[in-house]
Amino acid sequence: MARILVAYASKKGSTAEIAQAMGKEIRAAGHLVDVTEMKSVSSVGGYNAVVIGGPFYMGKVTDMGKFIGRYRDALAKVPLAAFAVGLAPLGKDPADKENAMKKLQKTLEPLTPVAMTIFAGRLDPAKLSWFQKWITQKVKSPVGDFRDWTAIAAWARELPAKMGV
Ligand SMILES: Cc1cc2nc3c(=O)[nH]c(=O)nc-3n(C[C@H](O)[C@H](O)[C@H](O)COP(=O)(O)O)c2cc1C
Repeated sequence: MARILVAYASKKGSTAEIAQAMGKEIRAAGHLVDVTEMKSVSSVGGYNAVVIGGPFYMGKVTDMGKFIGRYRDALAKVPLAAFAVGLAPLGKDPADKENAMKKLQKTLEPLTPVAMTIFAGRLDPAKLSWFQKWITQKVKSPVGDFRDWTAIAAWARELPAKMGV
């Protein structure tokens, strides 16, 4: 049994729910899991492995660079997995997802995760500020909840083996 931290960032709640779903899957495999917002993490010491995840906003993964900057040395010593959430996977052009993966990889540098992915998220206009609503309408963002819970659970289930815990 390993101690695993799932640290996430989320502005509108969809990534938080993904992180909780991952925690549930990993717990079901018999591990001790803390699912904590990155902002509330004060140490990554004592964990055998760490999963980090955050949503894309305006081309950047929220809070992830800051988190890595703060805990780089400790994170380099444990298996790390990373996910980002966004609408890029829904784009017709496969280059959108590839570019998002490159951005995630760049955000993680110099760390090398054992697993890395991007999940489709949720865009709920009722939760957006007027500016966010304006900008997402301008770029014709798809509206709805596109989270694939089967894919999220499957990715999470594979993590302990990939992390060697
Ligand atoms: C203002 C705004 C900017 C966004 N920018 C991006 C982006 O650059 N790339 C992307 O793939 N998704 C983008 N999204 C979609 C979000 O990543 C998606 O809604 C995600 O599920 C939000 O996560 P949260 O609910 O945890 O905050 C954007 C959404 C908003 C409202």
